[in-house]
Amino acid sequence: MKIFVPPIKSQGIKTKLVDWISRNASEMDFDRWVEPFMGTGVVAFNVRPKKALLCDSNPHLIRFYQAIQEKEITSGLVRQFLEKEGVKLLETNGEYYYEVRNRFNSDGNPLDFLFLSRSCFNGMMRFNKKGGFNVPFCKKPNRFAQALITKITNQVENILQIIEWGNFEFKHQDFRDTLSNLKNTDLVYCDPPYIGRHVDYFDSWSAEEEILLNQGLVSSNCKFILSTWLSNKYRTNDYIFSIWSDCNIAAKEHFYHVGGKETNRNAVYEAILSNVDLINSISTNEMYNRIENEESRLTQKTEKKVEQLEFQTWC
Ligand SMILES: C[S@@+](CC[C@H](N)C(=O)[O-])C[C@H]1O[C@@H](n2cnc3c(N)ncnc32)[C@H](O)[C@@H]1O
Repeated sequence: MKIFVPPIKSQGIKTKLVDWISRNASEMDFDRWVEPFMGTGVVAFNVRPKKALLCDSNPHLIRFYQAIQEKEITSGLVRQFLEKEGVKLLETNGEYYYEVRNRFNSDGNPLDFLFLSRSCFNGMMRFNKKGGFNVPFCKKPNRFAQALITKITNQVENILQIIEWGNFEFKHQDFRDTLSNLKNTDLVYCDPPYIGRHVDYFDSWSAEEEILLNQGLVSSNCKFILSTWLSNKYRTNDYIFSIWSDCNIAAKEHFYHVGGKETNRNAVYEAILSNVDLINSISTNEMYNRIENEESRLTQKTEKKVEQLEFQTWC
């Protein structure tokens, strides 16, 4: 499957898992694809449902895609904008990045959001306690070379085509509101922030919210797929065996890179959970037994936990 990459970047982007999620979704019947936590939208844009409701509590993400849908942002405008702003970035040896960041934090222009997302450090998305974008510059004043501008304008054009081909609705709202308006023919794909992983203005997550999410999904009677992590070298995600214990689970090994060094490759088992069968899924009970009996090399035994872990590249 050729993966379509969206123009906005984020550390929690599921590009590497999209094929897996799409293959599972294609086995299920549904009228509308719903994402309460759309993030960059990479999953929906690759599943390409005919009808979709895509929501997030981060207004900048929603505003960006609404602006494309309303043709306030076009690929031509993006090219013009990035060419003009890219020259200023180069001429000021990168200092201009901080001018754009201040401007964005006062008026939230979606083109500035795109500029920041593509020239900030490591393509991260992080907001401070006041909701201001606070990622530093990537330190490459020549960031917006022609090849990158062309790549971004193509990504914007592709988004427009996907949105126009289907019936897409983007909504800035909390997941509780999204869940309270579901129809039982919806397929709900959830990719919430991982508990305790990192906290920023639009992106924190607690055990209470995880419980509410579970209750909302169960009471909706919709089919759902939930992305989460199963285990890494140090610990297992115990919520899978408590809050989500009625689900089926499928797991997949994945490597996250922190920086470029081979030694910083962190293996993690990503999981998808669902209230219906997934490809190669087993019950969470069976997964628990496999881990406890060390029949699988997924993780060390659950009692060997390391409490203070840094998950620098995860969302
Ligand atoms: C793991 S990211 C989703 C990543 C997405 N699947 C992708 O591939 O780009 C989680 C998203 O949940 C959003 N979020 C956090 N808390 C939320 C809430 N209470 N309601 C709705 N969205 C929320 C964040 O803004 C973030 O975009």
